[in-house]
Amino acid sequence: MAKTEKAIEALLKEGRTFSPSKKFRDNAHVQDEALYRKAKRNREKLWEDFAKELDWFKKWRKVLTWKVPDAKWFTGGKLNVSYNCLDRHIETARKNKAAIIWVGEFGESITLTYWELYREVNKFANVLKNLGVKKGDRVTIYLPMIPELAIAMLACARIGAPHSIVFGGFSPDSLRDRIRDCKAKVLITSDGGYRRGKVIPLKKNADEALKKTPSIKKVVVVNRVGDKEKVRMKRGRDLWWHKLMEDTSPYCAPERMDSEDMLFILYTSGTTGKPKGIVHTTGGYMVGAYATTKLVFDLKEEDTYWCTADIGWVTGHSYIVYGPLANGATSIMYEGAPDYPDIGRFWAIVEKYAVNIFYTAPTAIRAFMKWGEEHPKKYDLSSLRLLGSVGEPINPEAWMWYHTHIGGKKCPIVDTWWQTETGSILITALPGLTKLKPGSTTIPFPGIEADVVDEAGKSVKVGAGYLVINSPWPSMLRGIYGDRRRYVDTYWSKYPGIYFTGDGAKRDKDGYIWVLGRVDDVMNVAGHRISTMEVESALVDHPAVVESAVVGKSHDLKGQAIVAFTTLKRDVKSSPKLLEELRAHVAKKIGAIARPDEIIFTADLPKTRSGKIMRRLLRNIAEGAVLGDTTTLADPSVVNQLREQHEHKEG
Ligand code: WTA
Repeated sequence: MAKTEKAIEALLKEGRTFSPSKKFRDNAHVQDEALYRKAKRNREKLWEDFAKELDWFKKWRKVLTWKVPDAKWFTGGKLNVSYNCLDRHIETARKNKAAIIWVGEFGESITLTYWELYREVNKFANVLKNLGVKKGDRVTIYLPMIPELAIAMLACARIGAPHSIVFGGFSPDSLRDRIRDCKAKVLITSDGGYRRGKVIPLKKNADEALKKTPSIKKVVVVNRVGDKEKVRMKRGRDLWWHKLMEDTSPYCAPERMDSEDMLFILYTSGTTGKPKGIVHTTGGYMVGAYATTKLVFDLKEEDTYWCTADIGWVTGHSYIVYGPLANGATSIMYEGAPDYPDIGRFWAIVEKYAVNIFYTAPTAIRAFMKWGEEHPKKYDLSSLRLLGSVGEPINPEAWMWYHTHIGGKKCPIVDTWWQTETGSILITALPGLTKLKPGSTTIPFPGIEADVVDEAGKSVKVGAGYLVINSPWPSMLRGIYGDRRRYVDTYWSKYPGIYFTGDGAKRDKDGYIWVLGRVDDVMNVAGHRISTMEVESALVDHPAVVESAVVGKSHDLKGQAIVAFTTLKRDVKSSPKLLEELRAHVAKKIGAIARPDEIIFTADLPKTRSGKIMRRLLRNIAEGAVLGDTTTLADPSVVNQLREQHEHKEG
């Protein structure tokens, strides 16, 4: 679990509540309980009415077909996601409204109006077609946060080619595995990307990955960093984006997609070393992303909306691109880090573009908190009217700081709980209505039947248990790409017919949900899901390492930090140099986000008599907490030794 018992206790004593101002409520999309009542009466009708707000080429015959664990939504319906994000707006006054305001790391910016974005997407859709991409072919996208990323994904959606976006911070090995898993035909990448002034050599990484990805026939390369990074273009395979776009026709008819046709695959960490390719389909996903963006963020025509996530993660998919654009909103897309070139960067952007809605992660809020409130104070943040939080539990102190120093005590905060698998937000306040409690994600979105259950699956009315979802929702995952067994085992086996989230949660007497963190071997490090097994495999891959056990430990800024207990080969001596080498090795194998914070060398790892590593014990050691029951240990002395070593290191 992500927090120590003490922190959880403190969280649950939180008694403050915050209600929206009258002004906010009077202008909000949702001002009363009618939607919740409607959902109770007829959930399918609720979703159907949201679906009717979108454009369909052909209406569905049936709203939901549910045969555990397979849901089909809007059966028989035909639509296109890029059409809903673009074509339907260019017929209206939104034609020349800013769709995406892109802000580069150096402060430069590009505004793409709906009309301009429409043209770029159409052109690139034709480029993909000319490269031989057909409906159903997978396209991997490995790009930094530049406009071409949004253009590429919408172009894929336009021609019905599922995209698989791989976060630009991932290593060549991670990219290779993700391409191999879905057998992508085309890769879209760039010469490089900027990160805190440095160039990340994306094409070079891609070249490394491409040595073992026979499925890739063509590579499209965006010129982002120009002369700063020399790239080698392989003749016949590698092509420049700008060259391909030069004489391409500006209209590409949108593919008539079946509601259940695949829209994208997005890989996320699970409890084994192999990432899961989460599959999302067209109709249900679009309805979920559209409806939640509109109601959770109370989105209005005149709003400027900014979600600070990277599009490489699901938050960027649903709440930078698909949700906001389906709503015809102006969405800001920022290339860089919150602290570059200085720690006022986010607030400078809020001021410059008069941002109204701001959605970020607790890890960022805690960093701002540490840097001090004097920084946001230098900027005019008065345009803000709504704040959001996502990715990990937000501690009440960070919530209060966000509320006070960013929201000027007047903005509701929506703490949104969801997952790559859920496609869109499932548990959240509705900002004009819900009474907020700092640290609680509040209550399920209308139509979502979330529950907290005990080990046996019995609903816990007040108290702690596992967070589950009792009935299907439109934007739920439809499977794990190419791995039916794992889909069934991971989500539908603990409680048959009920979706298992992998999170622990507590429900209070008002029915509010407080998410406590993962209950499986997945860590949440600065809002990123990282599997302990992935890091372990990366460590064991190093020639000096025999065995390793990785656990998450609470961390003030990142939520969790990665601690690796590591056993070296007999003839290898531990040293600070080796420790750094191992950390770098993991970063190289997976990506910098997985670099262990601590490595503890140990002659042995605590195991049960049947040889299983006792992670709970290691977690306790890492947390410096009191040990639990050790009677099943094969060699209890190992634990004491480890503990001493750890305390020595901390002390
Ligand atoms: C965690 C990110 C508490 C949770 C959208 C979940 C949260 C995992 C919250 C999914 C929240 C996400 N409060 N915990 N508001 N939002 N989580 O797939 O553990 O990257 O299972 O999706 O993040 O992470 P993922």
